[in-house]
Amino acid sequence: MAKAILIYETRSGNTEMMAKAIETGLKKAGVEVELKKAAHANVDDLKNVDAVVLGSPTYVRSLIAAMKTFLFVMDNADLKGKIGAAFGSYGWSGESIEILTETMNNLAGMDVIEPGLRIKRRPTEKGLEECREFGKKIAGRIQ
Ligand SMILES: Cc1cc2nc3c(=O)[nH]c(=O)nc-3n(C[C@H](O)[C@H](O)[C@H](O)COP(=O)(O)O)c2cc1C
Repeated sequence: MAKAILIYETRSGNTEMMAKAIETGLKKAGVEVELKKAAHANVDDLKNVDAVVLGSPTYVRSLIAAMKTFLFVMDNADLKGKIGAAFGSYGWSGESIEILTETMNNLAGMDVIEPGLRIKRRPTEKGLEECREFGKKIAGRIQ
């Protein structure tokens, strides 16, 4: 069975709503998923997975701090050629998705699905459906 890990961080819950909906989409498409907050994820979590999905809101035009820290953990894993995807909630500029995409491509040599998914503020039902579809799209790239 294909396996994905979905690592995210959130301050006010919006990116977490996205994470859970993406998880639903992946699971519906038959992918085994582990969901973890960045502060609790470690290098062993990145072993034996087919895809790594990273989620961060944008704060002060950057990643939320715990996700920035996690990228240094990710530097110790061999993810070359693995599927990657980025998502996050934002308010007005939304840099986090591009930063995550760029880092997965350049630091880890991953095969990143572009564009990533960004949703303004709290996802509506329509936004959550987009997240579930994004999960299915990731599943399609793994299988
Ligand atoms: C102090 C602060 C700084 C922020 N900076 C940005 C920013 O630079 N660009 C942006 O798009 N949104 C910015 N936002 C908005 C958040 O990205 C937005 O509220 C998002 O939905 C939060 O997601 P979360 O609930 O997953 O933490 C900022 C919010 C706060 C409180």
